[in-house]
Amino acid sequence: NKTDIAGNSSLPIPPLLEDKNPDPDKAEFHITAQNATKEFISGVETETMGYNGNYLGPVIRVRNGEDVSVQVENNLEDEITTIHWHGLEVDGDADGGPHSGIQPGESWTPEFTIDQPAATLWYHPHPEKNTGRQVYKGLAGLFFIEDEVSDSLDIPKEYGVNDVPLIIQDKQFNENGSFQYELGMHDVMNGLQGGTMLVNGAVDPYLEVPKGMMRLRLLNGSNASVYELHFSNNQTFYQIASDGGFLENPIEMDELILGPAERAEILVDFSNFKDGDTIQLSNKGSEFMKFVVNGESESNYAIPEQLTTIEKIDPDEAVRTREFVFQGMGPMVNINGKQMDMNRIDEFVDIHETEIWEVSNESGMGMMGGTVHPFHAHGVQFQIIDRDGNPPPLNETGWKDTFIVYPGEKVRAIATFNHSGVFMYHCHILEHEDAGMMGQFKVE
Ligand code: C2O
Ligand code: CU
Ligand code: CU
Repeated sequence: NKTDIAGNSSLPIPPLLEDKNPDPDKAEFHITAQNATKEFISGVETETMGYNGNYLGPVIRVRNGEDVSVQVENNLEDEITTIHWHGLEVDGDADGGPHSGIQPGESWTPEFTIDQPAATLWYHPHPEKNTGRQVYKGLAGLFFIEDEVSDSLDIPKEYGVNDVPLIIQDKQFNENGSFQYELGMHDVMNGLQGGTMLVNGAVDPYLEVPKGMMRLRLLNGSNASVYELHFSNNQTFYQIASDGGFLENPIEMDELILGPAERAEILVDFSNFKDGDTIQLSNKGSEFMKFVVNGESESNYAIPEQLTTIEKIDPDEAVRTREFVFQGMGPMVNINGKQMDMNRIDEFVDIHETEIWEVSNESGMGMMGGTVHPFHAHGVQFQIIDRDGNPPPLNETGWKDTFIVYPGEKVRAIATFNHSGVFMYHCHILEHEDAGMMGQFKVE
């Protein structure tokens, strides 16, 4: 659209949320979901939602082994919300799915113990049939886990300085500046995609970087878009982490494909530039943020040879293969012929057992060309075994909680289910999820 969008602001860095518990082994956080406004377009206030602020939310940072409680308050006018910890391995009652609705004016305080390696996770609302709209309005934030491995690695880790989060989203604005969230035919089919890219809530921002190594933690926080990210100078970079934590080794690449809800940590070396050099980051060729080189770096980093070790789950350990078939289009989207029913458990998993989940995309084949569906399951991290029988790309050989399934494709992933309760699996195109492309599994 042609609305005049304000650009050229410096990249906002979401604040780290204060831990209110003085005990070093425990953490207590307070989060409030609220209605707000924000100026994306100069002179126009857009109605938004935010956690503790007017758009997006603070970064929750915890350590593996820590006991965490989060007091979540719903200050939204007249609507139920929930808060879901995407990628976190916790029991169903703390997971924040659609059964954990918080009424307006009320709060919910889940408690859990962190029991997984260092990772960049995120949190977002998950109310029944209203997730897409609340996320679109701005409810989302990052959730970092640190551990001995992340402590010991010689990589940038000064938050907001050389360890910088990039929450990437695309939006559609109406002429009056409001977010366009009335679903037209195209949005019902493909999910809501917009022509204006935001990074941490800013349009076309810049980030000043020193001549040295930067660590960027990327989240595709869009409702529906798959991004193909690339630097304007063909700069290569190294992916060091996927959804659920560090990869075993850094993977050199010059393009990163990131589906909705997927995360990647990358190391980018800016040491061969001159002051004032500008490097653009683009999605499918259109530039949406820039890095402006300025000054010397205080530390020197090399790309580590090894990051961590990941014990491969042996497919022979799997007690069964469970099939999930994405079918239908638009309002008919479903998994295995069924649409979400809050009162129906679709799959029963025995706790501590290992299973192969085989996800195929048979939706909208043929004439319509098909639709991508990013698969996600709660409370567990997977290892991808294969895509159509072929080993996954190297940057998908670590822990994954969300993976793209292309039209006609079949992806096999393996996981051990160590947390009990009721969890969701769904397409992470949020308009598909809200339309019913979701099911429930119970682990006990
Ligand atoms: Cu990002 Cu059901 O979750
Ligand atoms: Cu999730
Ligand atoms: Cu989908």
